[in-house]
Amino acid sequence: MNFASDNVMGASRPVLEALVAANDGPMPAYGADPLTARVEAAFCGLFEREVAVSLVATGTGANALALSALVPPYGLAVCHAEAHIIDDECGAPEFFMHGAKLAGLPGVGAKLAPDTVAAYLDGLSRSVKQMPPRALSISQVTECGLVYTPDEIRALADVAHARGLAVHMDGARFANALVALGCRPAEITWKAGVDVLTFGATKNGCLAAEAVIFFDPAQAESMPWRRKRSGHTLSKGRLLSAQLDAYLADSHWLANARHANAMAACLSQGLCERPGVRLAWATQANEVFAILPRSLDEALRAAGAVYHPWTPSSLPPDERVAEDEVLVRLVTSFATSPEMIDRLLAVAHGRRVAAE
Ligand SMILES: Cc1ncc(COP(=O)(O)O)c(C=O)c1O
Repeated sequence: MNFASDNVMGASRPVLEALVAANDGPMPAYGADPLTARVEAAFCGLFEREVAVSLVATGTGANALALSALVPPYGLAVCHAEAHIIDDECGAPEFFMHGAKLAGLPGVGAKLAPDTVAAYLDGLSRSVKQMPPRALSISQVTECGLVYTPDEIRALADVAHARGLAVHMDGARFANALVALGCRPAEITWKAGVDVLTFGATKNGCLAAEAVIFFDPAQAESMPWRRKRSGHTLSKGRLLSAQLDAYLADSHWLANARHANAMAACLSQGLCERPGVRLAWATQANEVFAILPRSLDEALRAAGAVYHPWTPSSLPPDERVAEDEVLVRLVTSFATSPEMIDRLLAVAHGRRVAAE
């Protein structure tokens, strides 16, 4: 019953099989192989326009490289105070931006509101003492499991663009957001004003593969060198491409995300049927944030359930976690089985379960 994250599971079967298939025989190195060309073309088709694609092995690498191309060393990138880029990447974005800073703003459910961003940006001095803001980064899905709608993204992008900032989207869970919204990839990216996307794939079925997507290829001019300098240019580049090739083929990535979201919906509903349990934020994608009685938390953990406690800092103003309660995050993935959910819910509802 491991719900700690969507990366506690390995890679999906088609991705692993594609890696084995791509392993045979020689192919040009450093991304000059036909598989990489196919993946680049697939991304152009997916986003319905020409895009520049840089494949890397980690989400942190993708975010840091994307931001480094948007923000000069003396600049500022604005994000939510709980964003992965500011809280969970050990300073990688600042490191790759060569001194630029991240500014974290508040927002319920780790979502930024246009007014908050506008007020912050308009309150900055234009003095040489102030680092000029150059990028806004939003997470899709947010760190509290919420999904930005196309209109919400557009409103934020308008605020950013009007003030000269580019818009980056950390799409570590892009697929989960996309299927939750039921729209096309273009609608929640460049058509809504996103300039650069970190297209996450590792959490949703790849072994280790993410793509930095620039919707204006001219803005990606420096990316080959940035990627090489950061150690993300794999000499056997086909092994990154093979993963994404299989991931995108036959809508495999969408099926994986649909499954993960459906599992989260079952888990969320089942937990909420247990008296004393309520959601901290709505379950919109593949993460359940629940406020549990401490006694239930202890029973679940004693039965072998694994998940993380979560910070209450982005709760709605009328919500609080009492002394005898705990706020937790449970994440489902492409590989979460209905049996795992049934088992956890059985424990939650006090039903007898056999040992694992
Ligand atoms: C919102 C978000 N962004 C990015 C990442 C990518 O991180 P990693 O460098 O571990 O692949 C994660 C992974 O936990 C995440 O949750």
